[in-house]
Amino acid sequence: MMYTDKVLDHFSNPRNMGEVEGANGVGMVGNAKCGDIMQMFIKVNDDEIIEEVGFKTFGCGAAIATSSMATEMIKGKSIDEALSLTNQAVVEALEGLPPVKIHCSVLAEEAVKSAIDDYRKKKGE
Ligand code: FES
Repeated sequence: MMYTDKVLDHFSNPRNMGEVEGANGVGMVGNAKCGDIMQMFIKVNDDEIIEEVGFKTFGCGAAIATSSMATEMIKGKSIDEALSLTNQAVVEALEGLPPVKIHCSVLAEEAVKSAIDDYRKKKGE
């Protein structure tokens, strides 16, 4: 199985790893088949901009690399922009993933959406 340098970089040096203090949106998703779990923490300000983001992934290397890349892609963005993040965009930013690892990027997309969902619920939307 071949991984791109970008994937290996984000796997061995993950960005934004860990919980975010004062996060107002927390999402958790899992894949029943592989058993991997991904948690996403966002801190959204009054202008609905994601000021801080963090993740915790109990899973495979590709799940760690895609969650790391996803956090980089939504940091500083509005929640609407973050909602439009697709797993394909994450895969492209990583310059590709082996086909059997595409579901890991789906988990990253779902984790972002789940955190935003939680933020909106807490706000009473
Ligand atoms: Fe399931 Fe990677 S093998 S998330």
